Amino acid sequence: MEGAPDTTQDDAAPSVRQTIGPSTTHADEQSLAASTATTAVGNHPHDRAALQIDEDDFDDYDSTYDPSIASSSASLTSSITNYFYENGRRYHAYREGEYYLPNDEVEQDRLDLQHEIWKLCIGDALYTAPIQDPKTVLDIGTGTGIWAIDVSEKFPSATVIGTDLSPIQPGFVPPNTKFYVDDFEDGWDFPGIGKFDFIHWRALSGSTGNFPKLYQQAWRELKPGAYLEVQEYDASIYSDDDPQLLRAPWSRSWCEKLDEASTAFGKTLNVGRFHRQWMEDAGFIDVHERVVKCPIGPWTRDPALKKLGGLERMHMNDSVEAHSMALYTRVLNHSIDEARVVFEMVKKEFNDRNLHLYTVYRFLYGRKPEG
Ligand SMILES: C[S@@+](CC[C@H](N)C(=O)[O-])C[C@H]1O[C@@H](n2cnc3c(N)ncnc32)[C@H](O)[C@@H]1O
Repeated sequence: MEGAPDTTQDDAAPSVRQTIGPSTTHADEQSLAASTATTAVGNHPHDRAALQIDEDDFDDYDSTYDPSIASSSASLTSSITNYFYENGRRYHAYREGEYYLPNDEVEQDRLDLQHEIWKLCIGDALYTAPIQDPKTVLDIGTGTGIWAIDVSEKFPSATVIGTDLSPIQPGFVPPNTKFYVDDFEDGWDFPGIGKFDFIHWRALSGSTGNFPKLYQQAWRELKPGAYLEVQEYDASIYSDDDPQLLRAPWSRSWCEKLDEASTAFGKTLNVGRFHRQWMEDAGFIDVHERVVKCPIGPWTRDPALKKLGGLERMHMNDSVEAHSMALYTRVLNHSIDEARVVFEMVKKEFNDRNLHLYTVYRFLYGRKPEG
């Protein structure tokens, strides 16, 4: 399942690219201090220092944990907004069926919450690469565009471009932010931009079956000496004191099924551990990887991790259905009711502090050599 996909394919036909107009702001950022980061060498989380358990604090009920499932709606123009609805969720219209996570408001809220978690993992930062003053920045698969907007605000003299299959970005954005409906499997040339000073993507697990091609494309579109940053989560659940997840059988089985179904779909989810090699294989140098263990729930002793864990539990309670509904019903042929039972059992384990479950977030960057 996880062998490196074919790297020989080249760009497909030119994309139908559509600019998305302005609208609302996103919520203010919390100042999240914390940090948890460890610089990486190996790639299995169990080889790293174990998370320290808080044996005394049991007051960690997640009041936002609600087993009910919501849906929603939004608006814009026809072919890109003629959304596909299924099992209470809304999916993208442009290049319909390419991507198996929803794009509705529930999903947008999940992505914005996870944005806080990504930042918290690296000390309230947006990236780890040593960039100085980029003039052109590209964020592919931008989602709600929250990272691109924050980067636009940080570098007001830069042009920041975000692309996505879904026009779910706010319209009211800094003047230096531009969003396009665009398939990143196509070419990345944007009018009047040329090569980029910084390219970023985040959480694209399950969005392509050919990451090596994406790395080659980033290489081509970067200026010499410029940086690529990739932030990715493992689509897996871990526990230091129960590495086989014997006490969390629903979570273990969920990860196995996601692997099976996403691979059958052609876009394997759990590929975080391969990114370093893919980045190096594409020719990037000075490659760094930071691996952060992120507790699911406030069960750790460290106060910063406790806060991170509270957010991650909230996020993971939404993440289960987002990642699984289409795969379980379309690929594994579960009925919606069968699928929901599985999701509830998995969430029950996420909300059990005694299981000491955690997820893994990875932060990588590499530089295109000069000349
Ligand atoms: C899990 S979301 C991550 C969004 C954002 N990067 C973030 O971290 O908040 C993945 C995003 O990639 C987009 N996506 C998936 N396949 C794509 C493709 N082929 N071209 C452009 N965007 C794509 C999806 O629409 C979705 O918004």
